[in-house]
Amino acid sequence: MTQQNSKPKRFRSQDWFDNEERIDMTALYLERFMNYGITPEELRSGKPIIGIAQSGSDISPCNRIHLDLAKRVRDGIRDAGGIPMEFPLHPIFENCRRPTAALDRNLAYLGLVEILHGYPIDAVVLTTGCDKTTPAQLMAAATVDIPAIVLSGGPMLDGWFEGELVGSGAAIWKGRRRLAAGEIDEKKFIDIATASAPSAGHCNTMGTASTMNAIAEALGMSLTGCSAIPAPYRERGQMAYETGKRIVGMAFEDLRPSQILSRDAFIDAIVVNAAIGGSSNAQPHIVAMARHAGVEIKPEDWMEYGYDVPLLLNMQPAGKYLGERYHRAGGTPAIMWELEQKGLLRSKRLTVTGKTMAENLVGRESIDREMITPFDQPLKQKAGFMVLKGNLFDFAIMKTSVISDAFRQRYLSTPGSENAFECKVVVFDGSDDYHHRINDPALGIDENTMLVIRGSGPVGWPGSAEVVNMQPPDALIKKGINALPTLGDGRQSGTSDSPSILNASPESAAGGNLALLRTGDRVRVDLNTGSCNVLITDEELEARRKDAPPPIPGNQTPWQQIYRATVGQLHTGAVMEMALQYRDVGHDMPRH
Ligand code: FES
Ligand code: MG
Repeated sequence: MTQQNSKPKRFRSQDWFDNEERIDMTALYLERFMNYGITPEELRSGKPIIGIAQSGSDISPCNRIHLDLAKRVRDGIRDAGGIPMEFPLHPIFENCRRPTAALDRNLAYLGLVEILHGYPIDAVVLTTGCDKTTPAQLMAAATVDIPAIVLSGGPMLDGWFEGELVGSGAAIWKGRRRLAAGEIDEKKFIDIATASAPSAGHCNTMGTASTMNAIAEALGMSLTGCSAIPAPYRERGQMAYETGKRIVGMAFEDLRPSQILSRDAFIDAIVVNAAIGGSSNAQPHIVAMARHAGVEIKPEDWMEYGYDVPLLLNMQPAGKYLGERYHRAGGTPAIMWELEQKGLLRSKRLTVTGKTMAENLVGRESIDREMITPFDQPLKQKAGFMVLKGNLFDFAIMKTSVISDAFRQRYLSTPGSENAFECKVVVFDGSDDYHHRINDPALGIDENTMLVIRGSGPVGWPGSAEVVNMQPPDALIKKGINALPTLGDGRQSGTSDSPSILNASPESAAGGNLALLRTGDRVRVDLNTGSCNVLITDEELEARRKDAPPPIPGNQTPWQQIYRATVGQLHTGAVMEMALQYRDVGHDMPRH
């Protein structure tokens, strides 16, 4: 790009390394960097110091590829005239973190804000992959507002088992059902799970990881085509190099997140998320990133901009294929090209390339029309999230792109009552309660039962657990009923194919009416009007408010206590509300 020709620019790092007023401090700041061989001349040369936020580690296997990719990022930074400085991000590993990785998003955010504010860093490469590593870092970049660029780690190679594609996460949900049905034994279940994860990289399905990396690209925060390249492919290392080069240009141009993360960008992210059949977790994460960028996303924006968008990507869980084919079909730019032709994007907006999104998308038409369909021949019409509300909650979403034909037939096709159903409910207080009782015949769970889980939101769990995609009792699965209607104040995995009503806000632990629901109540869901109501009177509902609230677990760590005290609800992104007052802190220099 243009960095070599740019006018001399004084970077914030020079306030540390070249500060005439505080030469006493400059000496101190300089000396310890020497101990790994860097020279004072380099640090005082006026070159930008480029941070590399390293999200990979042995306990973040989805992002571990970044330990290697960072070498190519460094090469790119050096070749473009910057000085790389790599540092660790608080690890976030979706599958393994108990009680839930949702606790880590705001913690990693908090840590990264402190690093970018308090150290001599002029611009930063955000290394993303596993679900929350993307929003956590973009939230921090928005808060600090120094030049920032996303480098995705990329998905794993496609998984195969006995001649069939098996996608990560999706294979677990399907395998659990087959295990419950007695179709496979435990060994085969483990074999399928491991086959679904054949290489370095994040989930190879359109789960939350692929979704959030696609969204980072849709926002304009990564180089064009970055998100879908599989982790082991040679293009991934080349993308790392180009990303390192480009961030130096951005440092010289002072191209900051605040110039990229506009409301238009977030609305386009909502559109793209629908077209790719993206994760239900995109809802809180998009809202969280937007709020840290000073942009409001209203509940109605999901319906207004997202709901009518058709499903164009044939990738699990909404479709058939996996990440390698997505990349070969053209990846996220090919999806956006399709949307751009129909005028569905606000593409005259700036991106990290220094060009507009429209310019980035030129010539990006897909070459694989089974994987990325033409807009007029989609896999499904109206693939966006449906927003619901009623007397149990003010906001919840349903990912309609994963409603199966069997589910539609059973619940949404009653003559005279299409797209609506009524069920009795069985209520669980958190996922331990669900696991202990789901197979208890005394609950009388049949195909006309809705499973409800509460105490699983940001305050209740805490962190908000991915538990709403509750599997039916084994006895029902053996009869061929693989999915019941479900509702909850938690979330669910982006790789799940369950059409749950989830992210219900306010949650039961924060005064939401789900706390008042009782097993045996009847609930009516109407997708025509976007409503979900328990069929009792307001008086009866109020009368129940004097009962003891449902139990929630206590705090096990100091952070859990801080998290609970600072977090908002899922419909507003579950951000640390007090953090929103801090904006552009990278330009408010820290004290010596
Ligand atoms: Fe980390 Fe899916 S579990 S990307
Ligand atoms: Mg997840």
